Amino acid sequence: MIDDIVDGFAFGGDYNPEQWTEDVWIEDMKLMNRAGVNLVSLGIFSWAKLEPEEGRYDFTWLDRVMNLLTEYNIKADLATATAAQPNWMSVKYPQVMAVDEKGLRYTWGSRQAYCPNSLIYRRGAAAMTRMLAEHYAAHPALAMWHVNNEYACHVQRCYCDTCAAEFRVWLEKRYGDLDGVNETWGTAFWSQNYSDWAEVMPPRYTSAFRNPNQQLDYDRFMSDSILSLFIAERNILHQVTPNLKVTTNFMPLFKHLDYWKWAEEIDIISWDSYPDPHDPLSPVMNAFDHDLMRSLGAGKPFMLMEQAAGRVNWRPVNGMKHEGLMRFHSFQALSHGADAVMYFQWRQSRRGSEQFHSAMLPHAGEGSRTFSEITRLGAELKALSALAGSRIESQVGLFFDYDSWWASEMETAVTAAYPYVEEPLHWYRSLRERNVPVDMVSPKTDFSSYKVLIMPRMFVIDALPASRLESWVENGGVLLLGPMSAWLDGTGAVHPGGAPGPLRTLAGVRVEDVDPLPPGTSFSVDFGDGRPLAARNWREEIYAEGAEVLAVYADGPLNGGPAVTSHTRGRGQTRYVSFRPGPEAMDRILDPVLERAGVTGLLETPPGVYAARRIGVDGRSRLFLLREGEGRSDVRLPVEGFTDAVDGRQVGQVLSLGSWDARVLNEPD
Ligand code: GLA
Ligand code: ZN
Repeated sequence: MIDDIVDGFAFGGDYNPEQWTEDVWIEDMKLMNRAGVNLVSLGIFSWAKLEPEEGRYDFTWLDRVMNLLTEYNIKADLATATAAQPNWMSVKYPQVMAVDEKGLRYTWGSRQAYCPNSLIYRRGAAAMTRMLAEHYAAHPALAMWHVNNEYACHVQRCYCDTCAAEFRVWLEKRYGDLDGVNETWGTAFWSQNYSDWAEVMPPRYTSAFRNPNQQLDYDRFMSDSILSLFIAERNILHQVTPNLKVTTNFMPLFKHLDYWKWAEEIDIISWDSYPDPHDPLSPVMNAFDHDLMRSLGAGKPFMLMEQAAGRVNWRPVNGMKHEGLMRFHSFQALSHGADAVMYFQWRQSRRGSEQFHSAMLPHAGEGSRTFSEITRLGAELKALSALAGSRIESQVGLFFDYDSWWASEMETAVTAAYPYVEEPLHWYRSLRERNVPVDMVSPKTDFSSYKVLIMPRMFVIDALPASRLESWVENGGVLLLGPMSAWLDGTGAVHPGGAPGPLRTLAGVRVEDVDPLPPGTSFSVDFGDGRPLAARNWREEIYAEGAEVLAVYADGPLNGGPAVTSHTRGRGQTRYVSFRPGPEAMDRILDPVLERAGVTGLLETPPGVYAARRIGVDGRSRLFLLREGEGRSDVRLPVEGFTDAVDGRQVGQVLSLGSWDARVLNEPD
């Protein structure tokens, strides 16, 4: 909950006052007050200014900023300042810098280029964290902690000798001895046997395929190494300020960290959202990420820690946000369960790497369109304060799994033309078009309360979660299995007998072979209803072993073979879809599943209009309506008596929404 941080929703952004003279700080405070800012993320990249020489700390300027914040009634999401080590550290201790897979060491001059296993970095970060925590523990502006920044944003994997040594320690802990490593990595093949720990390396640059099991373990090891950086800082913060929440900001659809594992360690989930205004898919991807973030926090409200008020500067082409788009994105976040709308950054830089990145207060100043949009939004959020803390209820769970992402996209994979995220995303998209709220789940989630589980490309699954799924289905759950599911066990070994491995009896099918297709190739699937379906990318040779066949392949090498099956077990059912259906097939694939499970959408809306519901701590529910794209749509509300949650006015039963509009309505009691 956000209520121990600020009142109502949090609104503000990254504040980097070290770029400005102190007279500008006063102006900042006044304008923040005018905009309704109540929280700033402070000091994220301030290490060099807070520790200008090794061991000499200077917090005087930050004291003045913190005191000003108190004076102007703004809270600090204070950073531990460890996101970018100072140059003196990189120069004096070159081993602090990360090394790439070809052995090339990074140079300072940008940011976040440290090796996650560097003891020098770790020692410096811990010291800074402790100094800051002790110094500001009792400061009235301090409301929460922001550890580091977007861990692994720039350097996802370090391949240096320190990391190699730590990798060996990690492996020894996991496998006990070298035999375990040899066994798990299948090193009997290609003459890869390790006879001494010193031979074991990160998957560095080499002649051909690197060992996939070694890579999978390295992915896990790196995610764990970086996580241990977070945990080290968090432990210090919890010790010194036990009542304050600690976060670190996640990134959109980010492959390199196992966020499920990370989320267990984080007090409040926060993330940074940068939908590309030029990409028509960005609203759905953004919605997906919001739902993932809420799900990582077990349904608790999360923080939108950063978004852009306008353009970014890190894409090849950086589209502007036209009037209304930033408000749309903000309401989109709220509609998925966010309790904070924050930005990078408060005031637009004049110099440096982000001088062309937008900000809440742009170069054009307080008279700008952007600043007036910010101010208006601040006022709206204030009017909506009562919604803070409200939750989303979902009956559908969608599996999202980092092991599966890593393992199914190796260089040894059967296709490079079918990225992992496309699979969960396209199921998500169809659920969203039906206004069916959805949570992301992992094999560890308690999924007993869901009516439907969708398992898209759960490439890695162990026997244990599979047996939990069996009892869930027996008790009435409806499971929808997508293609490329359950190939490997948790050690990265192929399940004997074929996919879907431990789910084979539940699904009543066996996958014999798969047929990845080059982009642009299509094939036909027959549902026996006279409407053959054109599909692309991927198809599977499956055999029904107890399952009923609902659709067959209608051409090509699999002609006549099953394409979609259904298998009943106890009170539930498992459907297997062995290709990737487009949205046009969902009335024959997804709808029957939802119907069987008794799941209905929140509301019928015209295309491009999305509905969401947040249920308050007081039990009152609010309906969000968001309209994507240009134009106007009329939405018919189920009953009369809705009122606008911002201004309290009655709304008619037919509500007209304009371009990129967003409304929040109080539902009648
Ligand atoms: C990331 C970082 C910020 C800033 C923004 C710019 O999200 O966390 O420091 O660089 O990108 O979009
Ligand atoms: Zn390293």
